[in-house]
Amino acid sequence: MYPRIITHLAKLEHNLDQVLRLCQRNGIDSSFLVVKVLAGQPKIVEKLAMHDIAYLADSRLENLEKYQHIAKKKAYLRLPMSSEIDRVVNIADLSLNSEITTIRKLNDAALKLHKRHDIILMFDLGDLREGIYYQDSYLPMVGEILTLSSISLKGIGVNLTCYGGLIPTPSILNRLIEIKQTIESHFSLHLDLISGGNSSSFYLFDNPGLPKEINSLRYGEIVFMGRETAYGRFLPGLYRDVFTFEAQLIECKVKPSFPDGEIGMNSFGEKVLIEDKGLMNRGILAIGKQDVQLENLFPRDPNVTILGGSSDHLIVDLGKLNYQVGDILSFDVNYPGLLHLMNSGYVKKIIQ
Ligand SMILES: Cc1ncc(COP(=O)(O)O)c(C=O)c1O
Repeated sequence: MYPRIITHLAKLEHNLDQVLRLCQRNGIDSSFLVVKVLAGQPKIVEKLAMHDIAYLADSRLENLEKYQHIAKKKAYLRLPMSSEIDRVVNIADLSLNSEITTIRKLNDAALKLHKRHDIILMFDLGDLREGIYYQDSYLPMVGEILTLSSISLKGIGVNLTCYGGLIPTPSILNRLIEIKQTIESHFSLHLDLISGGNSSSFYLFDNPGLPKEINSLRYGEIVFMGRETAYGRFLPGLYRDVFTFEAQLIECKVKPSFPDGEIGMNSFGEKVLIEDKGLMNRGILAIGKQDVQLENLFPRDPNVTILGGSSDHLIVDLGKLNYQVGDILSFDVNYPGLLHLMNSGYVKKIIQ
């Protein structure tokens, strides 16, 4: 059945082992494996959970809910909505937080449910997504958190290179270290987790090294794609082809490459630039923008070029090759492409 996305499980587990080894050598003793890209596939997550990770982490409760039978702590990555507080406490052992009103509600829910809930307090070091802005006051808020009987402040964290593209340089991460030191000395306590970011923090490992106070990272892309995300460099010894996307040709015809008549908008309201290359060996595959942004697919056959498409169709230049209707084309995918394909109900998920 097609279209389908194949997970090569042995390659994925190899990448995870390599990344865990790197973490070990660089003072990261608490790994949060971010599995959101799998869109809730318990069979794969069960295997990954057998490796030496501290938490399974996801930004959707619906996904974490599918992993409840797995004996590994669960971390909820997106700041909780007020409308899902009870579910967060029930499903996740830990959540990332930046709002005292939400933390109070988590405390109330945890009390009611006779549970404790751990939090990482997020600081925004300049990337401008979630977190208390690092220049703002935070001690009164920490003080209140420490009075909440069913909340444990496990640590502090930062997320970088997500919205603003901020690189986790040592000087940026130092802002988090200063906050750690201020909180610890002001309240005479020890914060267990100093969570220094995601796959974009790995570039620091070799040179000059992560600040030694950082003992935890939350990462996904580096394991699934084999590359760090500060500069997009692939890591030696990691597989880049953990996933294969396959789609089936539903039309193969020689046609002109330029539309024949007055040109307006396409089905997505865009005016597209099309080059006239004369007659072309064209194919249509049964996959479309409804399932994936087409620029996130990369044909494995170097003779094949993506031309464009619509909601349900992907149009390719097949080059001089003699493909036929029913043939399958294979593609590499990048991380956003994988995220969309895994979340499409029309794409079969295969484990090999
Ligand atoms: C809060 C948070 N931490 C960590 C991650 C993991 O990011 P990456 O896949 O780049 O390692 C994400 C995104 O998935 C996130 O939203």
